[in-house]
Amino acid sequence: MKILPILIHPDPRLKKLCSPFDRVDDDAQALGNAMLATMYDAPGVGLAAPQVGKLKRMFVMDCTDKEEDEAAPMVLFNPTVIWTSEEENTHEEGCLSIPGMYEDVTRPAEVKVAFWDLEGKEQEEHFTGLWATCAQHEIDHLNGVLFIDYLSRMKKSMITKKMQKLKKERASA
Ligand code: NI
Repeated sequence: MKILPILIHPDPRLKKLCSPFDRVDDDAQALGNAMLATMYDAPGVGLAAPQVGKLKRMFVMDCTDKEEDEAAPMVLFNPTVIWTSEEENTHEEGCLSIPGMYEDVTRPAEVKVAFWDLEGKEQEEHFTGLWATCAQHEIDHLNGVLFIDYLSRMKKSMITKKMQKLKKERASA
């Protein structure tokens, strides 16, 4: 399976509003499968289409405990949050587009998400725990929002500078 290159922040493509799918065709399925392979290879628990340069509303995730559980890959096209819990949860988040940086972000503890699966079938899922955090983080990506957008301006600019440096080092390597 082909591994796709992952964009690193700052990149204008990570700040765009992504467009919805009309249907789940062969190309969309192939993108979903390539993104799953890329996510597992990274390794990460979630990956959104804009992170591989596709400005479309889709993400993949698998938040199972790699040591304990069977893999549970999910591909979600046109995901929409249809319900959020009043209760909030604070999780340390990271992002494959912001490697090595982890910060606490507070979000609703549980969400219900409507989406189309890899077969184009309408689905609804109730996410809790890490799955709920991950789903909201990935849906943010489809609206050009990164987890560092929830941090103080100072923290955000510090992380952005570190990423600029990382990109320069990688480009000259
Ligand atoms: Ni991310």
